Amino acid sequence: MEKLIFEKSVEGRHGNYLPPSDVPVKQIHELIPEELSRKKAPLLPQLTEVEVVRHYTRLSQLNYGVDTGFYPLGSCTMKYNPKINEDAANLNGFSQLHPYQPVESVQGALELMYKTQEYLAEITGMDAFTLQPAAGAHGELTGLLLIMAYHAARGDFQRDKVLVPDSAHGTNPASATLVGCKIIEIPSKENGEVDLEALKKAVGEDTAALMLTNPNTLGMFETQIIEIAEIVHQAGGLLYYDGANMNAIMGYARPGDMGFDVVHLNLHKTFSAPHGGGGPGAGPVGVKSCLEPFLPKPVISYNQQTQNYYFDEERSQSIGRMKAFYGNFGVVVKAFTYLLMMGGDGLQEVSAKAVLNANYLMNLLSKHYEQPFAGPCKHEFVLTSSPYKGNEVRTLDIAKRLLDYGFHAPTIYFPLIVSEALMIEPTETENKQTLDEFARVMAKIAQEAMENPKLLQEAPHNTPVSRLDETQAARKPVLRWKAE
Ligand SMILES: Cc1ncc(COP(=O)(O)O)c(C=O)c1O
Repeated sequence: MEKLIFEKSVEGRHGNYLPPSDVPVKQIHELIPEELSRKKAPLLPQLTEVEVVRHYTRLSQLNYGVDTGFYPLGSCTMKYNPKINEDAANLNGFSQLHPYQPVESVQGALELMYKTQEYLAEITGMDAFTLQPAAGAHGELTGLLLIMAYHAARGDFQRDKVLVPDSAHGTNPASATLVGCKIIEIPSKENGEVDLEALKKAVGEDTAALMLTNPNTLGMFETQIIEIAEIVHQAGGLLYYDGANMNAIMGYARPGDMGFDVVHLNLHKTFSAPHGGGGPGAGPVGVKSCLEPFLPKPVISYNQQTQNYYFDEERSQSIGRMKAFYGNFGVVVKAFTYLLMMGGDGLQEVSAKAVLNANYLMNLLSKHYEQPFAGPCKHEFVLTSSPYKGNEVRTLDIAKRLLDYGFHAPTIYFPLIVSEALMIEPTETENKQTLDEFARVMAKIAQEAMENPKLLQEAPHNTPVSRLDETQAARKPVLRWKAE
């Protein structure tokens, strides 16, 4: 176990190489009033410079990220994030802005936001966008508030049910609950798609919306999406598109054309802003024109006459502000850089390659792990390790064993409708050699599961810590060192 820097401290050690200053300086007690000054020296760790440098360098090496290796976390689109995004976001003209600066002095930033909105609208087939939401789940909340405001404006107050397929991401029902709606779960058919008959039975005058991601969380495209949209619209409900899986279809299909009324996108997935570890993200929300009046304010707008960008605050039907100031601007700069760099053709190629990589890997892995739904898949796929259960090997054991081989584990136990699920999303930024190596290791683990299950049950063997109590770590995290 790695020691904390406080535990490495040895009294009297220090990192000063310079001799004491011979320039007269005021003593600290002459500068700080007695009642405010410390009575005891602070308990700082005492180490030499080299110890400090080694400590932090080592800690940085313990971290696993997409810059270190393959990160096949399904539903999370852990693609490589080009470093030019960081350079752009670090430009002084962006990073040194103050949110209260006069609008004339931030025209460039507003133009960037306005154009990002326009590009996202084009990619998704929507009429208008807001960049305010800070993440996908926050986008869901925003989108559902827009839907509820729309129904309320029409006097449709009885619409309090949100339909959610049983394969949906957990944030979908959670967001619908947050806006005060009840959830109706729609079962999937044997091929993983929404059961239309069940949907027809569930819709009615109380339907506020259907939330759907397409391709769904099984990586399968909902081929009946046009009929689904018709059924929901005929009942007076709206369609919400969870755009976390947009990496699969850019340039090929648009949620707006499928009949969706609201979408959220995850800039920190599809549009290559880094994520993971709770870092800043952005979940812009796009809407069809019927929902535009309700968008969060201020709306970034452009005055054709004066040729100026401005914050439009005059929005009487707006649901209000969803985020302090204008959203996570730095994340938007990164996504904008990516959009310019890729262009329309580039984005189309991204999706084509993401789908190709997923199908290639699925074909290799399905020789060793069961594939519950027939392919082809889109940008991700789901396998199950159920056949190894007889040998007392669970999906968790396989995920832990992967760490021994230097790979990040895929998403596990999601979606909930597949038992012992392994959800794998290779993304477009991985090459054939990496995919082949991952497949080789997964095949080896499958063999180990048959021949030496204990090896998996006790994995990982090569990491600084092995099996942790993840529930305790999440519920009662110990985040502070306390001096004795
Ligand atoms: C399908 C799907 N929807 C919604 C979300 C929520 O996005 P965020 O994590 O940015 O809140 C995720 C995140 O993993 C997702 O995979």
